[in-house]
Amino acid sequence: MNKILDVISEEVKKAFETAGYDRELGRVTLSNRPDLCEYQCNGSLAGAKKYHKAPIMIAQSVAEVLKENSVFSEVSAVAPGFLNLKVSEEFLSGYLNEMAASEKFGVAEPEKKETIIIDYGGPNVAKPLHVGHLRTAVIGESVKRILRYAGHDVIGDIHLGDWGLQMGQVITELQERQPELPYFDESYEGEYPEEAPFTITDLEEIYPTASGKCKVDEAYKERALENTKKFQNGVRGYRALWKHIMNVSLPDIKRNYDKLNVEFDLWKGESDVQYLIPGMVEKFKEEGFAHESEGALVVDVKEETDTKEIPPCIILKSDGASLYSTTDLATIEERMEKYHPDTLIYITDKRQAMHFEQVFRCARKTGLVEPETRLVHIGYGTVNGSDGKPFKTREGGVPRLEKLIEEIDDEMYRKIRESRKELSDEEARKTADIVGLAALKYGDLSNQAAKDYVFDVDRFTSFEGDTGPYILYTIVRIKSILEKYVQQGGSLEGLSILPAQNPDEKALMLEISGFQSMIAGAEKELAPNRVCAYIYDLSNAFNRFYHETKIIAEEDETRKAGLIALLMLTKGVLEDCIDLLGFGAPDRM
Ligand code: ARG
Repeated sequence: MNKILDVISEEVKKAFETAGYDRELGRVTLSNRPDLCEYQCNGSLAGAKKYHKAPIMIAQSVAEVLKENSVFSEVSAVAPGFLNLKVSEEFLSGYLNEMAASEKFGVAEPEKKETIIIDYGGPNVAKPLHVGHLRTAVIGESVKRILRYAGHDVIGDIHLGDWGLQMGQVITELQERQPELPYFDESYEGEYPEEAPFTITDLEEIYPTASGKCKVDEAYKERALENTKKFQNGVRGYRALWKHIMNVSLPDIKRNYDKLNVEFDLWKGESDVQYLIPGMVEKFKEEGFAHESEGALVVDVKEETDTKEIPPCIILKSDGASLYSTTDLATIEERMEKYHPDTLIYITDKRQAMHFEQVFRCARKTGLVEPETRLVHIGYGTVNGSDGKPFKTREGGVPRLEKLIEEIDDEMYRKIRESRKELSDEEARKTADIVGLAALKYGDLSNQAAKDYVFDVDRFTSFEGDTGPYILYTIVRIKSILEKYVQQGGSLEGLSILPAQNPDEKALMLEISGFQSMIAGAEKELAPNRVCAYIYDLSNAFNRFYHETKIIAEEDETRKAGLIALLMLTKGVLEDCIDLLGFGAPDRM
């Protein structure tokens, strides 16, 4: 279905043509003076030169044509040459009924269906998930859902950090504690136990201990580096331990993402592409892209037009070891080979912007991607505490992701307990978890990704203002009205929306009608905050309408059914939107 702006534009274009002017002048935009009109067209101003006429004359003759058009209830030509437009109530309700009957409320299939890979999450195996992992998960999940909704084939890949020093550190600490284990006996040729010699609880303590020791004990750190090389080079016992760490960590990582309602199609990691590195490096050398520089192997990626220094992309360190960028390049090679994506999107902290700039340039230069492949890095800002500095626990440490979720859920529980005394404890907990997730995600996603924001539990969990709970509260309110309607014998089948009878009702309808444009904008800009802004406006429009309109008490049954149809559409649109943000609504709260 066409966007409402396109439908209206088409009418105005036809009118320009009828009046004897270029139809392209008829492009309509949302009004920037909502006090005067709903839509506007500035084409007459642009046409004045071409037709050697005062713009107001053009506007007047187009307005004359449009006055006969049932799409509009008001058309006026105002100085110096604007066309101010209001759509008719009949047209608007008709448009909304078409939306209600369409799949995805009329969002059209994309002109070109793309295959898109989104690389997000990126946890490092064996390390606990912390506040730094929140935004990539939340933003990535939402961008994935938005692009899918817009009609693309989207693959979400977690891209585990599973090949780094942290694995060597854990192995080193195990060696300290249990040197007698067969894994450390390099002459051992038997089978290794299936069961890991540690649990997730052990691991949660082993990693921080090991990483702490590395900071103060040079020899220990040396061993950790050596052990990292050993598992990387495939030394049997060390590789077996690596596998144990993976097996013990992954379910825990998955549990954390489940809690956030974040899911991945691919659980690949750095380890999965190591096999590609030697061939890739060879190719870079052979084709003359890579050269030696201070012992390291690098690819120059600076360009003449650069205004800042872009250092070369390092492929191998002087000791021959590969790096973060090498793995990312090999991953691109594998992704292109296996999935032929049109677009690759990476979601990380914005401090990794240079890394991705280098990797993207290198991938282009060396032909790992097609010239038309889009490579996008979404760099997000920091989660800050109320002091404006990166969020810390009271003890000054890096807060665990689970603790953050818990903190929000607990506060939500307290607020729900307070306002809904009749709820059972269990129901209050369950509701708090659902609403808490909305509080957390909306608190994040309502900001532009690149901006830092303050993690403000009190504000995020408020039922008022631009918050997740406010949006859910609006949905729950609609649900309960619909429920009442059904209880009183009404049916929700086959209803249609009727022309608006008052300004608040019309304002709500206009808000709904912008859904498709909003989706198009969110898709283009990869911006979940667009969805948030839309549902905040929509919720406000709904609540204003709700305060002014009797619904259940309406005596005219036809009008009542029409209002119920409008409520159903509002709820449907809000529910699809929160699903795009990665959370859901409870039945009551
Ligand atoms: N594991 C990385 C980190 O913790 C994030 C990975 C992001 N994705 C990528 N393809 N580099 O910083």
